[in-house]
Amino acid sequence: MPAIPVRTHGGNYAVHVERGSLARLAEFVPEGSGKLFIVTTGDVWKLHQGPVLQAVEGREHAVLFFPGGEDRKRLAEVEALAGQLLEQGADRSSLVIAFGGGIVTDVAGFVAATFMRGIPVLQTPTTLLAQVDAAIGGKTGVNLASGKNLVGAFHQPVAVVVDPDVLSTLSEREYRAGLVEVLKAGIIRDPYLYHVMADGYESVLQREPRIVDELIECAVKVKAGVVSLDERESGLRRILNFGHTVGHALEAETGYQRLLHGEAVAFGMKAAVHLSHLTGHLSGEDSVDMLQTIGRYSVIPPLDGVTPEKLAARLKSDKKTVLGSVHWVLAPAIGQAKVVSGIEEKIVLRAIARAME
Ligand SMILES: NC(=O)c1ccc[n+]([C@@H]2O[C@H](COP(=O)([O-])OP(=O)(O)OC[C@H]3O[C@@H](n4cnc5c(N)ncnc54)[C@H](O)[C@@H]3O)[C@@H](O)[C@H]2O)c1
Ligand SMILES: [Zn+2]
Repeated sequence: MPAIPVRTHGGNYAVHVERGSLARLAEFVPEGSGKLFIVTTGDVWKLHQGPVLQAVEGREHAVLFFPGGEDRKRLAEVEALAGQLLEQGADRSSLVIAFGGGIVTDVAGFVAATFMRGIPVLQTPTTLLAQVDAAIGGKTGVNLASGKNLVGAFHQPVAVVVDPDVLSTLSEREYRAGLVEVLKAGIIRDPYLYHVMADGYESVLQREPRIVDELIECAVKVKAGVVSLDERESGLRRILNFGHTVGHALEAETGYQRLLHGEAVAFGMKAAVHLSHLTGHLSGEDSVDMLQTIGRYSVIPPLDGVTPEKLAARLKSDKKTVLGSVHWVLAPAIGQAKVVSGIEEKIVLRAIARAME
């Protein structure tokens, strides 16, 4: 079973990728752990409680439900969950098991980061996006009314357990949104992963287990490798934001309602590819190739009312903007990324306009 290491100041741990691993969850609970608190959503629990219950049988445990949804990823829910932890006897030896999509891994991770000033968390992500991205790297947090992920903490898990079997119940739309993050990993750092996705898109979309497992493993390696080299996003970790600068602007502009994160990122990746080409960093041939592959996976909903100018205005309020100058992640070639700042606004507008075509 591939155990992909993550090394950070906040702790070293592994991401275990294996079909059926949920049923062996108990093996990843640290020795000496007290009561187990599974934090999940009703839908995920209904679909996949079987192997988890089997794994915790005979151990003291409780299941805590979180309503789910981006609008419930708020401090009020953190308080509610912390209250339930206390009521049900949690103490500093307790372990939180986050079992769900990226919203659950972020919220449960933040509850664990702050409850009694920090108790351990075991991440068991159930969406493709959470398996290759959200659950790895220790970023946890919630939204404020004025923006996403504005309150949070770095809290590394004791382990991340990825069971690709759970993806069989994921909707087509959520699956594709996750694939966009996998493709991002290929574009910025892994030409092999990129080519598997470019050439094998039919098998990928049909969720053939062998290829899905390979994609997850490769994408996890990219995220784990980057996070291990730069835990707090001062340098290298920024490359993970490929497609996210414009993607975040589009999510904000559409009120976080119309598009899934991965759909917005697909649009942002198209803009970033155009920008890479327009600024002379990327060849025409590679840019055509990348745009075609992004197009195979992404279904971007209609963008009525969105204009390049409105998106450019949003960029200036992006959390990742440093001293007013946008740091662009460009792709100079398949499998490479480069951070560039100071790109003229008119070129940015042109790149966004091309992504809208
Ligand atoms: N911490 C990080 O580094 C990081 C990175 C990327 C994204 N995120 C966060 O992740 C969140 C998005 O995560 P997401 O895309 O997983 O969304 P999500 O958590 O909302 O999950 C999507 C939907 O799928 C359902 N679901 C989950 N697993 C399922 C399964 N196996 N079968 C059927 N349905 C299932 C969920 O209940 C939900 O309705 C955002 O809030 C984003 O900010 C965090
Ligand atoms: Zn993302």
